[in-house]
Amino acid sequence: MTNTAIERRKITPNLKQMECIKTLDGSVMVLAGPGTGKTFTIIQRIKYMLEQGILPEAILCLTFSEAAANEMKIRLVKEVGTVASSVEISTYHAFCNNIISQFPVKFELVERFNVIDDLTKYSLMREIIDEYKPKYLLARDYDPYYYITPLLKAVDMIKLNRVDKEKYFEVLKDGKNWGQELNRLLIDKAEQEDLVKIGKRNHLKTTEKEIAKLEEYMDKAKEAWDIIEIYTKRMQDNNLIDFNDMINFVLNTFKTTAHGFMV
Ligand SMILES: Nc1ncnc2c1ncn2[C@@H]1O[C@H](COP(=O)(O)OP(=O)(O)OP(=O)(O)O)[C@@H](O)[C@H]1O
Ligand SMILES: [Mg+2]
Repeated sequence: MTNTAIERRKITPNLKQMECIKTLDGSVMVLAGPGTGKTFTIIQRIKYMLEQGILPEAILCLTFSEAAANEMKIRLVKEVGTVASSVEISTYHAFCNNIISQFPVKFELVERFNVIDDLTKYSLMREIIDEYKPKYLLARDYDPYYYITPLLKAVDMIKLNRVDKEKYFEVLKDGKNWGQELNRLLIDKAEQEDLVKIGKRNHLKTTEKEIAKLEEYMDKAKEAWDIIEIYTKRMQDNNLIDFNDMINFVLNTFKTTAHGFMV
């Protein structure tokens, strides 16, 4: 291919892409459909940073998947040449794992922490259920292990969404606030009782059943939180972390002590 042909193939970013590429201070969020030029924009932004004298080592580029990280690496080399190898491009998990491995003490972990596998997750949860002896989280046939998988999924969801105890109890069921929901039902019940008293109705509607259902749901959720708390603590005690911890630990520690990481 001749140089002119290569030149002709050169893509000019559109206005929005250009705005993103040229913004060096602060953050930019690119929301665009598949194949619309997101990666192209990021690559051009890195290229622009390098042209502006920013050191390649000072650029960090994180993706969700290995495939995306590899694609970024290849496309950046094509665009800027070998300097691309000094730009850190990796997945969120690999990057965080690396940080934790380098500075385990910062994360209250001893040097040889392990990433928990699915089998260990299961047996740890079973061990805790054996000790805790749930009263509410039981299957119809009273099998306490029925809830192991849902509990492990809940652990993931809680960590993924960084939900704390307060948030967990505030909004859980389909985003509904249980306290408010229970209040509504209790008021409804009181109104119905009044109607029964003055003879306008001869029995309560379904409110009592609804209240009992909600209370049972709340008992289960409280028990689930207790078990999850013990499980999380047990993981720490055994120096085990999961993939969500990797991200959360680094995020939390960076928020509070980023300067402490200077080497
Ligand atoms: N402004 C533009 N004008 C012409 N072509 C463009 C423009 N921006 C990007 N492209 C081209 O569109 C194609 C898709 O771009 P890119 O791979 O960056 O998209 P993406 O949004 O990252 O896609 P995916 O969703 O698959 O990750 C590439 O060939 C890229 O060179
Ligand atoms: Mg892309």
